[in-house]
Amino acid sequence: MTMIREIDYGTSARTSGTPVTLEIDGRSVTVPEGTSVMRAAAEAGIMVPKLCATDHLESFGSCRLCMVEIEGRRGTPASCTTPVAPGMKVATQNDRLARLRKGVMELYISDHPLDCLTCPANGNCELQDMAGTVGLREVRYGFDGANHLKQPKDESNPYFTFDPSKCIVCSRCVRACSEVQGTFALTIDSRGFASMVSPGAGESFMDSECVSCGACVQACPTATLMEKSVIAHGQAEHSVITTCAYCGVGCSFKAEMQGTTVVRMVPHKDGGANEGHSCVKGRFAWGYATHKDRVLHPMVRESTADPWRVVSWEEAIATAARRLKAVQETYGRHAIGGITSSRCTNEEVYVVQKMIRAAFGTNNVDTCARVCHSPTGYGLKQTFGTSAGTQDFRSIDRTDVILVIGANPTDGHPVFGSRMKKRIRAGARLIVADPRRIDLVRSPHVEAAHHLQLRPGSNVALLNAMAHVIVTEGLVDRAFVAERCEADAFARWESFIAEPRNSPEVAERSTGVPAAGIRAAARLYATGGNAAIYYGLGVTEHTQGSTTVMAMANLAMATGNIGRDGVGVNPLRGQNNVQGSCDMGSFPHELPGYRHVSDTAVRTLFEQAWGAPLDPEPGLRIPNMFDAAIGGTFKGLFVQGEDIAQSDPNTAHVTAALGALDCLIVQDLFLNETAAFAHVFFPGTSFLEKDGTFTNAERRINRVRPVIPEKTGKAEWRIVSELATALGYPMHYDTTAQIMDEIARLTPSFAGVSFRRLDEAGSLQWPVTEAAPQGTPIMHADGFMRGRGRFMITEYIATEERPSRDFPLILTTGRILSHYNVGAQTRRTANVAWHPEDILEINAHDAEQRGIRDGDLVSVGSRVGATTLRARISDRMPPGVVYTTFHHPVTGANVVTTDASDWATNCPEYKVTAVQIRLSNQPADRARRHAPIVRVGTAAE
Ligand code: SF4
Ligand code: SF4
Ligand code: SF4
Ligand code: FES
Repeated sequence: MTMIREIDYGTSARTSGTPVTLEIDGRSVTVPEGTSVMRAAAEAGIMVPKLCATDHLESFGSCRLCMVEIEGRRGTPASCTTPVAPGMKVATQNDRLARLRKGVMELYISDHPLDCLTCPANGNCELQDMAGTVGLREVRYGFDGANHLKQPKDESNPYFTFDPSKCIVCSRCVRACSEVQGTFALTIDSRGFASMVSPGAGESFMDSECVSCGACVQACPTATLMEKSVIAHGQAEHSVITTCAYCGVGCSFKAEMQGTTVVRMVPHKDGGANEGHSCVKGRFAWGYATHKDRVLHPMVRESTADPWRVVSWEEAIATAARRLKAVQETYGRHAIGGITSSRCTNEEVYVVQKMIRAAFGTNNVDTCARVCHSPTGYGLKQTFGTSAGTQDFRSIDRTDVILVIGANPTDGHPVFGSRMKKRIRAGARLIVADPRRIDLVRSPHVEAAHHLQLRPGSNVALLNAMAHVIVTEGLVDRAFVAERCEADAFARWESFIAEPRNSPEVAERSTGVPAAGIRAAARLYATGGNAAIYYGLGVTEHTQGSTTVMAMANLAMATGNIGRDGVGVNPLRGQNNVQGSCDMGSFPHELPGYRHVSDTAVRTLFEQAWGAPLDPEPGLRIPNMFDAAIGGTFKGLFVQGEDIAQSDPNTAHVTAALGALDCLIVQDLFLNETAAFAHVFFPGTSFLEKDGTFTNAERRINRVRPVIPEKTGKAEWRIVSELATALGYPMHYDTTAQIMDEIARLTPSFAGVSFRRLDEAGSLQWPVTEAAPQGTPIMHADGFMRGRGRFMITEYIATEERPSRDFPLILTTGRILSHYNVGAQTRRTANVAWHPEDILEINAHDAEQRGIRDGDLVSVGSRVGATTLRARISDRMPPGVVYTTFHHPVTGANVVTTDASDWATNCPEYKVTAVQIRLSNQPADRARRHAPIVRVGTAAE
């Protein structure tokens, strides 16, 4: 349990600078220069009264409550805006200051409703605290004069209210929205007495630019901006620190609780990934965990035509084991396998892959990360030697040139997107390579220096052309290359990349990006100071996904932009534990720690630890499992927390495979689309119930702590252990800490990780070894993990999926801020208010040609399928390219995506599908009907 209220030092810490010693209330204090007097006092344990200052915002100096006396200076300066000076003598308390502060508070309170007892902030209100601190006992001014007490509330946002009658116009909300979130949705309207906080130009919060991140709510010292959940439940009585289960940023939160009820989620100030910020999903969209749709009891059925039967855990586990064994007896050991989930904890994933290898006796294990970031693992391992990003998020604060390619951080990775925007506002230059005009290209106080609006599928051509410019214009960092990289590989790459076919002028034809723009961007990347690459699924989900990752690594090595703060090559991971699920040995060819199953020494290590023989041959990948299922040789599948029927490409193919199985076991929160084909359903636990760890995009291992008891009565790792045991392989753990201890024993990069160390440090970035006991925020600092960096030849090969007469447009897919993946969680929250359905974005020219108007229903047809969506005419899209999200099963965007995939890893080519768009009047109707659930006597109710 953690304190609900943390110390607020008033202004931010200065971490560098000459130490300055001063005296505050007779105490000697030493702090770095640039520190405010207020912060110096707080660090010495002297809390100066304050209202407009808070330590995650720049000081503003408006409330005047923090005034102090400084020897030799006139007046009473504000301590929040006054920097320390050597030898300064400060008094924070005396009669004069007390009188002045009481006067300030009196003015505030004279225009504030005196309803403390019934106010939702009661007990956790800074205004209330300050009234007490300054000893305010009466207010001489009545409420008869002009005041703001009758101002109407704005209840438009589903998660928080705005009650202007309680506003003290401290501007903390406005500054939070600008400085931290970078949305600039709030202003202070008018002046003097009439000053008022306003979202947009007098709009409601819901109609404004607000993205509902909640930073303003967190910053508000009064009940003006207040979570509706707190209004409903009251203030929390304890809190637990845990980790968001949505995206790969991995934000830390304090779950504020009343017993087993979550009152609110507050981003944790000490969270290594988020430092006190969050987005709408993590802060507000956790209601799915208690949604009525959750299945809380295990269920079985003989065939998918039968209704589900609610049964005891014993019966469900025995049924699963019996069916899996029956398949193996008839079709052989390798006729079964499993898929691990990047939404589950490291410990849960580890036990599933262990069960598959040791109890199933096969390496037929793959992960949903196959369909997103497997090219990252491959590409970075080939070039640098590790399957992970190179930097911590903080590193961007030292970046001068940011290259964002195939990622949309403000929607997909919002907290990091805000950090990126802050760095750009502070002067970093931005290059965006994306077919779509994402928000980063132009948003308040942010403008990309270059938007390379390339055609989907031409990433490699673009990056090769940038490298061509760097090589042919003499911009290579030769000293870095000579010292750190393989000479032969570099020489081969240099002559390859210098060939005219890799020039920007040739690339212009395949990418559609003017050669001059490519040249300018390449020069900026190579010469603009520290340059860092951030990328997402727009890089990996292509037939050349792995080639693109290697092309980025080549660029970074050629310019020496690797191995220190501010540079690097960084995947923005989609799901919360993509990094972890890959680290934990979820690929059919790799044991935990990315070690090949054919390596006898490694296999022996695991065989001895696990007490079971392991197969030296790699198993099936997900697409091979589907093909084998359709071919009749693969008959049993365990799916952990993943809706493959909705998330994998070419839905018709996937469902045909699932329908051909004799035993499908699904472990999930909800009866998802995949469960329609299942024979056994194990109810899963939400992140609020889990005990374990997630690993985020910066290799940061964060603790996930149980906030509420398991609603299903059984942790997922226990179910898996019991299933393995029922299959004849005894597996037992008492706690998840024991699982992590086993991972640490068997995985060199986790050697120094344990729950105890994580609790002490807050989080650790792997590798955590004897040489790096505190973890490794920046990789490859003294040499690449593979020894020398290896340049790889990255031949551009255009995808087969090209526009044609029948399918003249290219469909590309992505995410939106308010939703997450297939939407199973976010659709069960109030986030649907922002995005009730998937939308097809189409350029005005393409729409006009087809007679399509904004809001029309259109049919989207590809070579493999068709679906119906509502069209939105958008100038974000270039002609010839359309875009949609895939958050709603009813539209089933993956009905149209093909099963083309990355040459090295089989990551599907979601980002390029040739389609035709036509007007339609048929709403999509693909919602699968689930068989009814019947409850029978044996149920463990
Ligand atoms: S919720 Fe976030 S985006 Fe909306 S006004 Fe507040 S700080 Fe700005
Ligand atoms: S809404 Fe809250 S944070 Fe914003 S100005 Fe008013 S009191 Fe300050
Ligand atoms: S969804 Fe991502 S950015 Fe948003 S709070 Fe969760 S981890 Fe942070
Ligand atoms: S806290 Fe310093 S002026 Fe408000």
